Amino acid sequence: MLEVRELSLAFDDLVLADRLSFSLAAGKTHVIIGPNGTGKSSLLKTLFGDIQPQGGEVLFEHTRLTKSNLNPWRQQFGYMPQDIRLDVGLSALEVVLLGKMSALSLKLDDSLLEQALQALDAIGLLHLANRDVRTLSGGQCQMVLFAQALMRQPKILMLDEPVSALDLHFQQVLLNHLDQQTKAKHWVSLMILHDLNLAAQYADNLLVLKDGHLIAQGAPKDILYPELIDKVYGVKVDVQLDSLGAPFIRTRRPGHAAVHG
Ligand SMILES: Nc1ncnc2c1ncn2[C@@H]1O[C@H](COP(=O)(O)OP(=O)(O)O)[C@@H](O)[C@H]1O
Ligand SMILES: [Mg+2]
Repeated sequence: MLEVRELSLAFDDLVLADRLSFSLAAGKTHVIIGPNGTGKSSLLKTLFGDIQPQGGEVLFEHTRLTKSNLNPWRQQFGYMPQDIRLDVGLSALEVVLLGKMSALSLKLDDSLLEQALQALDAIGLLHLANRDVRTLSGGQCQMVLFAQALMRQPKILMLDEPVSALDLHFQQVLLNHLDQQTKAKHWVSLMILHDLNLAAQYADNLLVLKDGHLIAQGAPKDILYPELIDKVYGVKVDVQLDSLGAPFIRTRRPGHAAVHG
């Protein structure tokens, strides 16, 4: 379990977390939603130890993140930040192998190579293995970085807007693979999504952040009501349950009446 206790985070006057507390169970997919600029990415950076909070603590399996255990702490993570550019002359396979950087510095053995090829194959990217990543599309790069995060065999997997450049097919490949691996390998998976319908479909636990506070948390069907969405985004929506019982959210065009039925 990953635990955040009384976390306070601010950049000067801008408060991003105000004594924020929550815990994330292993074997579950946790999804953060919230407005642009509310501090979602900064929260992930704090959990990874990239940003030092003003107060509070972060623990994983009862071990606290401190300055002195930063390296072993990070070893437990697969972390895919938002908007990373792959501007290096490496093949897709080499980028995936970088996920095992510490092992690479020792020796590149056949089993490591096999693991990297399998990571690419599992998400339908094997055909790109030898391509220079500078020649890949934004969506293809995003998938390669996902394979790199998987290659780490993390205990905690954090993905910051992982589907922002993906087409419908690869959105489904990434999210299904993530969910299946999370459950099979008992990872703590935490991702930021903007698409509320994807969040509703894939989150076991949804965390709604706004103005430094967790304003709702729970199963999507229990919290994704029009009132909450209006409060968070200032947008009027209709919410229905789909055939699998997940909320389905549709925005209303301003000036148009609600759709019933
Ligand atoms: N290093 C920084 N120094 C000062 N302000 C920052 C820094 N990083 C982020 N911010 C500000 O903090 C706010 C939250 O940013 P971010 O965590 O990226 O939001 P989100 O991911 O929710 O869109 C933004 O207003 C951003 O400009
Ligand atoms: Mg962000």
